[in-house]
Amino acid sequence: MLVMSVILLQSLGCFSAMHPLQCVLQAQRCLRWGPLTSVSWLLLRTCRAHSGVRSSAGPSPERRQEDGVWKDFSSRLATGPTFQHFLRSASVPQEKPSTPDVEDPPPYLTVDDLLGRQRKVYLETYGCQMNVNDTEIAWSILQKSGYLRTSNLQEADVVLLVTCSIREKAEQTIWNRLHQLKSLKSKRLRSRVPLRIGILGCMAERLKEEILNREKTVDILAGPDAYRDLPRLLAVAESGQQAANVLLSMDETYADVLPVQMSPSATSAFVSIMRGCDNMCSYCIVPFTRGRERSRPVASILEEVRKLSEQGLKEVTLLGQNVNSFRDTSEVQFNNAVSTNLSRGFSTNYKAKQGGLRFAYLLDQVSRIDPEMRIRFTSPHPKDFPDEVLQLIHERDNICKQIHLPAQSGSSRVLEAMRRGYSREAYVELIHHIRESIPGVSLSSDFIAGFCGETEEDHLQTVSLLQEVQYNMGFLFAYSMRQKTRAYHRLKDDIPEEVKLRRLEELITVFREEATKANKTFVGCTQLVLVEGLSKRSATDLYGRNDGNLKVIFPDVAMEDVTNPGLRVQAQPGDYVLVKITSASSQTLKGHVLCRTTLKDSAAYC
Ligand code: 5AD
Ligand code: SF4
Repeated sequence: MLVMSVILLQSLGCFSAMHPLQCVLQAQRCLRWGPLTSVSWLLLRTCRAHSGVRSSAGPSPERRQEDGVWKDFSSRLATGPTFQHFLRSASVPQEKPSTPDVEDPPPYLTVDDLLGRQRKVYLETYGCQMNVNDTEIAWSILQKSGYLRTSNLQEADVVLLVTCSIREKAEQTIWNRLHQLKSLKSKRLRSRVPLRIGILGCMAERLKEEILNREKTVDILAGPDAYRDLPRLLAVAESGQQAANVLLSMDETYADVLPVQMSPSATSAFVSIMRGCDNMCSYCIVPFTRGRERSRPVASILEEVRKLSEQGLKEVTLLGQNVNSFRDTSEVQFNNAVSTNLSRGFSTNYKAKQGGLRFAYLLDQVSRIDPEMRIRFTSPHPKDFPDEVLQLIHERDNICKQIHLPAQSGSSRVLEAMRRGYSREAYVELIHHIRESIPGVSLSSDFIAGFCGETEEDHLQTVSLLQEVQYNMGFLFAYSMRQKTRAYHRLKDDIPEEVKLRRLEELITVFREEATKANKTFVGCTQLVLVEGLSKRSATDLYGRNDGNLKVIFPDVAMEDVTNPGLRVQAQPGDYVLVKITSASSQTLKGHVLCRTTLKDSAAYC
């Protein structure tokens, strides 16, 4: 019931921003189908009414064809999907057969309309690793529908941008890109099929129709939970209509969609384990663009990791907005009321959740699949680090001793305004506890400079936290106010831009100094490095990553292979090698290679 009302509210929200024609179409459909319409919300607009980009000197053959399509389309729309159709969509189980190829079309489209007909898709990814993974999911869905992939923009028939909304700048990049694509679209030869442009992901979700109004060049919008609908949206776009699906789901995890690995020679892969976020930090747009937190069933994650291991991949990063809040409730027998263990001194903005298979269980199971496969995870929230998780990271050789612990600020006052659910003291205590539980652990963090009301004193508290913790890696940002967030409604974005940037610069300088000190402790140590490839700066060097995820550069020379004594080998991507560290900076370690080895046989040592 809750699911339905959330969905319904979203659909109603869309009404207010619609063109009258859309309202009529939408209202007709709602009247005919009732609230279940919203299970498969589709926004359609006619380009004729809005674009004005076509010439007025009589209809072109293409236009006449479009007119025909529109009439045909309208009449098909009038007959509309049946109630049963939407009942079917509503009850689609999470675990679908792995090769659905082409879904049943809605009544206003035919099976043929849903086929890609060898059209070439060019995908461009912006933002976080979740978007990298989403790009692979979107591509997997389109590939099954008969689309081809191209890495050459000029030969593309469909250009899809997988977008990010986390900061204003990220969105500005997309608007700029759309201007370039607009000119590409207008210069397209009439002998070719018209170029279709789509906005996928967070920006589609945040701005919805505003994108279609502002940039007529955009043909389709698909929110982060609507990628399964891409073949249908593109089919609608074929007839010259703009189409959108920005419905958020309570349970979509794309559990059955196996992402297509972009680079066949890659040594590592991301595996999405959960989506969305319930934390509602006051500055963050993610809960609004990616929706409620939901976890993928453990069995499907294990199956994907097993397949990656069989393909020879050596590293898997478990991915999600809040990986350590993982809670698979799909298996009823595990849904007993086991209470949640939060880190000491941490609280949540939501009502305590209970039951389900938790992150420690998943991590344990994943790490047992292949002892030669490194396991990482990102991004966690500091509140969800119970001792079971820390113990497991400590014990298991193939779980990397690397924890990302986003602090955001060093001031308890600012942390409260951010609604992070912890004080500086609780955070520092957690850092000590983690360092005691996992000796040698590598730590990284995110920080925001210039949040609403941040004083010079608050800023200095952040500087002092950076000095106190001495992170190995850091991601630092200037605050960017986002509409819809709690901060937007309740707080004032009162720090001038130049002050934000000055504070950011100061944080970066301190972070670098401290990271250099932290990384210099590796000098003289031997590190186990997973080789990734040739160094970008020098053809005679290789690079890889140590357990703490720091980049390690070393000369590409022959070495002994520990498992085959007497054999001299040259390191290849996917090999584990021992490297003796000779120098360190804030971002990289350098050294010389000792031997090729295996993860099981050798731990890094100092
Ligand atoms: N402005 C600046 N940085 C932000 N982040 C999230 N929202 C904002 C915002 N509005 C940062 C946080 C988060 C990281 C992914 O992005 O540090 O951890
Ligand atoms: Fe955003 Fe906070 Fe959720 Fe991270 S935990 S995605 S910062 S709301």
